[in-house]
Amino acid sequence: MTHRQETEVVADKAQQTAPKRKVFMRTYGCQMNVYDSERMNDVLGPQGYSATENLEDADLVILNTCHIREKAAEKVYSELGRIRKVKEERALSGKDMMVGVAGCVAQAEGEEISRRAPIVDLVFGPQSYHRLPKLLDEAKTGKKVVETEFDIDAKFEHLSEHAAKPVMKRPPAAFLTVQEGCDKFCTFCVVPYTRGAEVSRSVQQIVEEAERMAASGVREVTLLGQNVNAWHGEDADGKTWGLGRLLYRLSEIDGLDRLRYTTSHPRDMDDELIEAHRDLKTVMPYLHLPVQSGSDKILAAMNRKHTRDEYFRLIDRIRNAAPDIALSCDFIVGFPGETDQDFEDTMDLIRRVEYGSAFSFKYSQRPGTPGATMGDQVPEDVKSARLAELQELVAAQTKAFNASRLGMTCDVLLERKGRNPGQLVGKSPWLQAVQLDAPEELIGTIQAVEIVKIGSNSLFGRLNAGHHDLNGSSQDAIKEAAFDA
Ligand code: 5AD
Ligand code: SF4
Repeated sequence: MTHRQETEVVADKAQQTAPKRKVFMRTYGCQMNVYDSERMNDVLGPQGYSATENLEDADLVILNTCHIREKAAEKVYSELGRIRKVKEERALSGKDMMVGVAGCVAQAEGEEISRRAPIVDLVFGPQSYHRLPKLLDEAKTGKKVVETEFDIDAKFEHLSEHAAKPVMKRPPAAFLTVQEGCDKFCTFCVVPYTRGAEVSRSVQQIVEEAERMAASGVREVTLLGQNVNAWHGEDADGKTWGLGRLLYRLSEIDGLDRLRYTTSHPRDMDDELIEAHRDLKTVMPYLHLPVQSGSDKILAAMNRKHTRDEYFRLIDRIRNAAPDIALSCDFIVGFPGETDQDFEDTMDLIRRVEYGSAFSFKYSQRPGTPGATMGDQVPEDVKSARLAELQELVAAQTKAFNASRLGMTCDVLLERKGRNPGQLVGKSPWLQAVQLDAPEELIGTIQAVEIVKIGSNSLFGRLNAGHHDLNGSSQDAIKEAAFDA
């Protein structure tokens, strides 16, 4: 889930009347932070802010941070060191620069941040973004502002209002947060502490936001949640829906051609959600379903609440419903107490499942989590060796999966210009990047593309308007075949 993206704010009427200021937003960590940064831009646009990618030009700097592993959290402090120099240089020419730290480091460390980095003017956690204008006003009085309250319902309500008058230029593929927080308390993870308890947005809020997105040119929506498949939102009659039912409802929205969701927990994969993969051609054949470890002993110590066998059975059910699905995963190596045999169990699980892609990490002790104080911490060199071995296996599986697409014609959503002139980049149904020569006017459309070459990080394709192998009716045919079996 590593992701960094700067977003763009376009001028609207409100911006033209408000004083012109520039915001430099840097986003670390997961897609939820990318979505949150977009919402902060929605809030800042009417305040006269437009985005800049040059730190030197910024009147306001916001670092939207990630606390998931120590490395991610430490990045913030090294970036603040760089920002301090620029802030001092701007001050010499009489220009101000306000510095804010948002996101999960802000939530976890609070005022400790401005103690460690005195250039920071405001620290605010993920549930405070709708109050940003007020917090900025307070910070302008010279007061150090720290806001780490949990009031998630208020956040969603207010951010929905802002998103209702969009000032953002929407890319063809966008994120939509449906659920935030986590009640699972895996023993390695800070999320239940930084994002708080699980909260689901209502059906109406989500449907309205998705409709607005579709109306502004979004073709693909990825539903986000730390535990997205635990989403259980209420409809207008007070009935509780699960994520599967929501996918059926969102599939009815005109112009929304593709739906994805992330990140899922194996325990919350219910029949309706699996059936949505079988029945709906809008639901893309890709699933990120972290297992973290293949050892029953480690799964129990991690408090994952399922066994490796249960995971295998789940994978079988999913593949029976959607045979062409690409599976993705997260793994942690070197969790406290992990022996060579436990690690071998993880390698065996990977060999059996065969992933399209996977992310893997060395266990990182996070303050306040149960794992941090467990005995039997694994030495760093052992973690490194295991990680290298695991990543080699996953790389081979990714390569094989990508190679299996060669010669196939599939739907590609063309998202943006590529590095070379005349080139566009899009995404296959299986979330692979596809590069091809195509005119710019096709950005935002879905095209039949023949995969002609496999690169190390992306596929290369050729427009193939006349022919479809794996989309539309032929993809339905595959799903029907699976259903019959
Ligand atoms: N150490 C290493 N990896 C972690 N993750 C979460 N917490 C930790 C930690 N303490 C990984 C998990 C999770 C992904 C987002 O980050 O694999 O699925
Ligand atoms: Fe963290 Fe586990 Fe919740 Fe995922 S399910 S956010 S890993 S506590």
